[in-house]
Amino acid sequence: MNTSSCIGLSTMKPCRRILVSCKNSSLFGFPFLNSNYLITDNLSKLQPNLNDLPDSSNRVVGFTRTNTPNWRAFCLSGSDSGQSRFFSGCPLNTSNDRLVSNKVNVASDVRNHSTSIESKVNQNSFEKIYVRGDLRVKPLLIETIEEAHKVLENVEKDKDNEARVEVNDSLGVNIDNLNQRSDGSMVFRSTLKREVSEVEKEAWKLLRGAVVNYCGLPVGTVAAADPADKLPLNYDQVFIRDFVPSALAFLLNGEGEIVKNFLLHTLQLQSWEKTVDCHSPGQGLMPASFKVKAVPLEGRNGEFEDVLDPDFGESAIGRVAPVDSGLWWIILLRAYGKITGDYSLQERVDVQTGIRWILNLCLTDGFDMFPTLLVTDGSCMIDRRMGIHGHPLEIQSLFYSALRCSREMLTVNDSTKKLVAAINNRLSALSFHIREYYWVDMKKINEIYRYKTEEYSTEAINKFNIYPEQIPSWLVDWIPENGGYFIGNLQPAHMDFRFFTLGNLWAIISSLGTPTQNEGVLSLIEDKWDDLVSDMPLKICYPALECEEWRVITGSDPKNTPWSYHNAGSWPTLLWQFTLACMKMGKPELASRALASAEKRLLVDQWPEYYDTRHGRFIGKQSRLYQTWTIAGYLTSKMLLENPEMASMLFWNEDYEILENCVCGLNKNGRRTKCARVASRSPSVSEPLLPQIK
Ligand code: GLC
Repeated sequence: MNTSSCIGLSTMKPCRRILVSCKNSSLFGFPFLNSNYLITDNLSKLQPNLNDLPDSSNRVVGFTRTNTPNWRAFCLSGSDSGQSRFFSGCPLNTSNDRLVSNKVNVASDVRNHSTSIESKVNQNSFEKIYVRGDLRVKPLLIETIEEAHKVLENVEKDKDNEARVEVNDSLGVNIDNLNQRSDGSMVFRSTLKREVSEVEKEAWKLLRGAVVNYCGLPVGTVAAADPADKLPLNYDQVFIRDFVPSALAFLLNGEGEIVKNFLLHTLQLQSWEKTVDCHSPGQGLMPASFKVKAVPLEGRNGEFEDVLDPDFGESAIGRVAPVDSGLWWIILLRAYGKITGDYSLQERVDVQTGIRWILNLCLTDGFDMFPTLLVTDGSCMIDRRMGIHGHPLEIQSLFYSALRCSREMLTVNDSTKKLVAAINNRLSALSFHIREYYWVDMKKINEIYRYKTEEYSTEAINKFNIYPEQIPSWLVDWIPENGGYFIGNLQPAHMDFRFFTLGNLWAIISSLGTPTQNEGVLSLIEDKWDDLVSDMPLKICYPALECEEWRVITGSDPKNTPWSYHNAGSWPTLLWQFTLACMKMGKPELASRALASAEKRLLVDQWPEYYDTRHGRFIGKQSRLYQTWTIAGYLTSKMLLENPEMASMLFWNEDYEILENCVCGLNKNGRRTKCARVASRSPSVSEPLLPQIK
């Protein structure tokens, strides 16, 4: 393959090319060499002629460096064995130097798109559809030369403002503070150093050791890096959800580049339309993970190129759909802006398009009756069958958080105003639904205990036809007098009463719950410390499925045996999210307490992925060691506790505008009235779920 040219470009007409000349400059945050760059702009209206595309081609669209033949940028699309492949590549030389002469540029601005429905139906050979990689092109970042220069200028400006922090493992970590920029925004700057403990030093060393490079640039961290592990399965990949605590650790330490690279490269992968047994998931799906592979360069003896190979669930055990990936991506994008002060990333046209794609996928109308997202089992951190199909809390809390992030980040114009309105409506409906129907406390359980069933009417009290016999015996004694929590799932005639930690923590962090509910969750965790935090923070869920329930619900999964792994195992990575929730609720001492007990063991135990047994006393039977999000979660917790201002940028307070929009405020005639929820609440409850509407 000719690595210096855009193969297949000739098939994509019309095509605008922009020549940007730069001197020791960088575009999109990555260094350019002193040379001319040819940016190929594929306009949204491109109509690729499918018949022109060679069957097994790798097609390149994007940046091409004109003066160095041993360089090529991105967006290859080809096919192999019936599945379209999307690789982004740059050559490696034989001496195993990962790229080599130059820092490579990111062409995430140029996105590649494969088979569209329209193009599929025109194919007369069914097989051809899947063997060939087709192109669908979406709007690109750079529309004009002027715009390209503007981007360049902004990047230069940001570089001046940037606070680069080198972590010196042997000396200390940086304690940073906020400085105000000329435009009023705050930026993170390093000022002091403090001594780090041995545990932290080791954690930083391991975190840095887990960094994955692509074309010489850091783009993520592997899920686990245990040198003794002979069968890493996919733990040698960069998982989107796993990278979030790594990203925060780097960001909190003033290192934004790896996070920016990650966000841009995963954005590219979003464009890859994947087929699983002739079916493609919706446009905008983010992969669960990706791997950087060194692939031999065709016709170049002994030379390799780095390629990104994403997994959208098509290789994952159980073929689970990574619904949470896009939500985490949006959450991280906002965090990047907040912590670095570099908002130019989220303002980019391609990044805005990425946000819109994820949201379109989530907001598309289906058969669903509820504002919650309907998903299959295993579509989040719990990525195996655990009976969480339907409307699991974890997805709803992340969805709500991602909607709040998007509302802040989306540029509002004529083409986005409908989407913004849809976001606002969904936020209102979702918060109402979760606050009203997922919340349980002593009082609510007592109500359920006395529920009447088979109520046919819009006025029904027991709307989901819950049979009181469903209240599990463990809950009767477990529910404390004070406090409460959001249940794991709600379906017709089914409430999953298990306590799921991640969903409850994100309900607090995002203010999906009311202030009182959020306080209630934390007070329940405090009350049930021995069950939920115990020897190793924190239980992924409580309690475990046992005996017949385990057999039926997990499908007799030997990894998810009671009190292990997803079935009520203890996951130290949850610590950073617990820390954030505690800080938001003004109880950092709770987080410190949990952190102190984790700190005693993590290093000694070699940073396990999870712990087993009711109190988390044993390292998980099949737990990976040197699990990156355990390490990063620990570091992030530490840094959050030291930087309350930073922490406060990562959570949200109640937004009364969201509440005001609640559709329940409309009566049958479309007039605003008191929401049923507010009306039905006892007068002693001072806090409104919705504002009183006059
Ligand atoms: C396990 C976890 C999942 C995580 C992956 C990589 O499958 O359940 O949440 O992303 O490992 O660490």
